[in-house]
Amino acid sequence: MLKVKKLYKQYIKKDRKGKKTIINAVDSVSFNLEENKSYSLVGESGSGKSTLARLITYIEKPTKGKIEINDEDLSKMSKKILRMKRADFQMVMQDGQSSLDPRIKIYDSIAEPLRNFKKLHKNEEKSRVEELMKKVELPLELLDRRPYELSGGQQKRVCIARAISVDPKFIVFDEAVSGLDVTVRKKVLDLLLKLRKELKSSYLFITHDIDVAMYMSNNISIMKSGRIVEEIQDVKSFNDFKHAYSKMLIKSLPPKKPCREFRRKDVNKQIL
Ligand SMILES: Nc1ncnc2c1ncn2[C@@H]1O[C@H](COP(=O)(O)OP(=O)(O)OP(=O)(O)O)[C@@H](O)[C@H]1O
Ligand SMILES: [Mg+2]
Repeated sequence: MLKVKKLYKQYIKKDRKGKKTIINAVDSVSFNLEENKSYSLVGESGSGKSTLARLITYIEKPTKGKIEINDEDLSKMSKKILRMKRADFQMVMQDGQSSLDPRIKIYDSIAEPLRNFKKLHKNEEKSRVEELMKKVELPLELLDRRPYELSGGQQKRVCIARAISVDPKFIVFDEAVSGLDVTVRKKVLDLLLKLRKELKSSYLFITHDIDVAMYMSNNISIMKSGRIVEEIQDVKSFNDFKHAYSKMLIKSLPPKKPCREFRRKDVNKQIL
């Protein structure tokens, strides 16, 4: 469904003396994400994950390379078509707090994508917003609050509700659970797995944590300095990773985490 072919993104930075430096944020990245599947992308800070997410959701244009959705080249689509397709491609941004407008009440935050992409009557909109709050397991009384009156975990859930509001075919989660404590993190991950089963959508799950990646997907790519250094299909254990950098990421994991304890026990593998 989504095919990324030899994608590049270069940033050119000038220092105070006018000297230019080229940053290869994404460097010849290729991968495929099939319909109704989850794909995880793992890498340390600065490895190019968020840049890649912005390219795939067409927030930014690649320097070179192709992104195809159902064999259609994104760069060849007109602005109008791209706008229509945007509803199918949602992203939950890295920073929950800054991706929610602090002046806007939670109700309007969730209703915003509905207003942009689905023309609903006021009462239909209200019942859809309430239904979404239930889906992400938030109490309705939060609808009248502003983002800063919510916890980090609640803010993430609001971002998830916004993303799923327009029934997307594909959702990019950029560090969806970073900054949350381990128990909240586990709850949000389980919510995402449950929602994916219900929505039948595909996930691109971006994380710096290989453990979280394995919890979320069977197919995992490891990114380093803008490049995919290793791609493993149908991962079963840490032993499947062969690249020295992947092994280093595994070695640097804390000894025990709740995610690993719960791995696969409560997850139907078919849905990953
Ligand atoms: N708009 C930009 N202009 C210049 N350089 C950028 C820009 N965005 C990202 N970069 C650079 O590109 C590289 C990749 O950044 P990116 O944010 O994609 O990494 P990341 O893997 O998401 O990191 P993190 O885990 O910290 O979020 C970094 O060196 C970063 O400084
Ligand atoms: Mg990032």
